[in-house]
Amino acid sequence: MLLSLFLMLKRTPGNSEVQYSAEMPKPNNFMKLKAWRGRLHRPILLLVIFALLMFIITLSKFYSVRSIFPTDTFCNHMKPESRNGTGSEVRITMQTVIQKIQLEMSTMRDMLSNSSSSASLSRYSAFLADILALIESTQSSLPFSEDPHQHDSERSSLHPLSNGPADYFFIEEMRKYVRMKPNRLGKKNFMGANGTFTSVGHACFAVKKELEEYMDYDIGEICNDDWKLAQKLMIHGCDPLPRRRCFSRAPKLYSRPFPINESLWKLPNNRNVRWSQYRCKNFTCLASNSTGKGFFKCADCFNLSHHEIPRWIEQVNLQPNLNLTADFLIPEVLEIKPGEIRIGLDFSVGTGTFAARMREFNVTIVSAAINLGAPFNEMIALRGLVPLYLTINQRLPFFDNSLDMIHTTRFLDGWIDFVLLDFVLYDWDRVIRPGGLLWIDSFFCLKEDLDDYLEAFKMLRYKKHKWVVVPKLDRDDREVFFSAVLEKPPRPFRIM
Ligand SMILES: *[C@@H]1O[C@H](CO)[C@@H](O)[C@H](O)[C@H]1NC(C)=O
Ligand SMILES: *[C@@H]1O[C@H](CO)[C@@H](O)[C@H](O)[C@H]1NC(C)=O
Ligand SMILES: *[C@@H]1O[C@H](CO)[C@@H](O)[C@H](O)[C@H]1NC(C)=O
Ligand SMILES: *[C@@H]1O[C@H](CO)[C@@H](O)[C@H](O)[C@H]1NC(C)=O
Ligand SMILES: *[C@@H]1O[C@H](CO)[C@@H](O)[C@H](O)[C@H]1NC(C)=O
Ligand SMILES: *[C@@H]1O[C@H](CO)[C@@H](O)[C@H](O)[C@H]1NC(C)=O
Ligand SMILES: *[C@@H]1O[C@H](CO)[C@@H](O)[C@H](O)[C@H]1NC(C)=O
Ligand SMILES: *[C@@H]1O[C@H](CO)[C@@H](O)[C@H](O)[C@H]1NC(C)=O
Ligand SMILES: *[C@@H]1O[C@H](CO)[C@@H](O)[C@H](O)[C@H]1NC(C)=O
Repeated sequence: MLLSLFLMLKRTPGNSEVQYSAEMPKPNNFMKLKAWRGRLHRPILLLVIFALLMFIITLSKFYSVRSIFPTDTFCNHMKPESRNGTGSEVRITMQTVIQKIQLEMSTMRDMLSNSSSSASLSRYSAFLADILALIESTQSSLPFSEDPHQHDSERSSLHPLSNGPADYFFIEEMRKYVRMKPNRLGKKNFMGANGTFTSVGHACFAVKKELEEYMDYDIGEICNDDWKLAQKLMIHGCDPLPRRRCFSRAPKLYSRPFPINESLWKLPNNRNVRWSQYRCKNFTCLASNSTGKGFFKCADCFNLSHHEIPRWIEQVNLQPNLNLTADFLIPEVLEIKPGEIRIGLDFSVGTGTFAARMREFNVTIVSAAINLGAPFNEMIALRGLVPLYLTINQRLPFFDNSLDMIHTTRFLDGWIDFVLLDFVLYDWDRVIRPGGLLWIDSFFCLKEDLDDYLEAFKMLRYKKHKWVVVPKLDRDDREVFFSAVLEKPPRPFRIM
């Protein structure tokens, strides 16, 4: 489209100036341009117009839909004092663009009087590249770039943060929640902030309708039975969710959990879980080996008595013809760092069995879990272990260099985007202490993807204690398992 516009300009340069004069940012720029026209080479003039045209198109694409008065949008945004808010950075860049064009024009005037048109042309292509880069950076720094053809009533929603996030929502409780809460007496609090900034995930703006349903309640009453809606919102990026001021529902007759010497390996009391959103209505149903009752990734993991009990303690998944396994045992992993592994995170799909076993080795493990298809969090908690209700969307809530170990299984298999995997691994690396272990447990993916995934893990430059790739025999030999135990090196790397 731009190319055709350019060609059109080329054919009718005289008209184009008149057409664009109405939209020119500053009248004086245009006047100067016109005054120089006689002295300039025509192609160079066209290039300048082209650059300005790009600039105008880019601007109008993002601003015309925003303004209440679309006709004077452009002018508004060219005056630095006209509006405050999130656009200030953009305006500064725009100012830079204009100054650059002005400077360039006067330099060009000099160059032309020295009459070396080829030098000036090459100079001009560099100049255009510069302007384009600036415009592009402006584009990416704009807060939101939604479809400009949206409904009129949603106009204000295009730049949700321009007047603070509160104005984006209609539900009063949501508006109250996201507004900054200034400290009383107007002083900084003990943490050094002059207010409290309650936060929500940025994608909350994209799931506005559901979020408003979630936030629509009576203060002080019992909340709706909507944990599933809440979880859906979290998974879709509205994470963290806003807090609420209603009482969450609980099982009607909560019975005392079993004592810790029993709870670790016993199915909990069914009454301590709210079953309304699940297909199974009790733990026996989840544990019985019938497909489609729980969560497909973990069909057996409620069967503590058979499936779970040998895990990480006995070799179970040995493939007889190959004598290979991707499962390492806890004792052999702990042997790498005797006595050093005390606390860690299990980022897996499961019922906490890893944490239960590690507890027996005097290691405290927190198990990240969400309730996909089965009450994983309740199960882990009722076993006497710590569940961490956490999605993959969030930075881990641990400080840098604090954990001795991160273990992961059945979670990051083959579906995960490489860029996301990179962010996840760097975050895990942040949290693991120097000398701490990352245990990748039976990561599986397609054979052809393996090399790319292995590159992602190698990127960490960890010391390899264990590293195996085992073919997965159940699916036409197309998938492989990968397991590794890696040690985080000290950083910054020692200079040899
Ligand atoms: C914009 O902010 C400045 C201070 O940053 C202030 O002096 C000025 O009055 C504000 N302008 C408008 C239109 O709000
Ligand atoms: C043009 O030539 C004059 C001397 O003839 C010189 O002073 C000036 O710097 C030159 N300008 C450019 C842009 O090369
Ligand atoms: C809080 O402090 C920041 C600067 O640290 C200031 O810009 C802001 O206006 C202050 N807000 C209130 C409510 O005092
Ligand atoms: C668990 O411990 C309690 C005392 O703390 C004891 O009475 C009970 O028998 C123990 N249960 C098992 C299964 O060992
Ligand atoms: C568990 O639920 C299943 C169906 O979901 C039902 O057939 C079974 O009787 C229940 N068992 C117990 C002990 O409540
Ligand atoms: C666990 O699995 C075993 C073997 O498949 C089965 O015999 C047992 O009944 C299962 N446990 C429960 C609670 O269903
Ligand atoms: C459950 O059934 C599947 C087949 O449907 C089988 O492969 C698996 O070994 C069974 N699990 C247990 C614990 O019996
Ligand atoms: C499998 O390999 C291990 C060593 O890796 C060996 O000790 C064991 O005897 C082998 N088992 C069979 C059945 O070949
Ligand atoms: C765990 O700690 C207890 C008490 O300190 C000790 O008796 C036990 O031997 C330890 N277990 C392991 C596997 O180190």
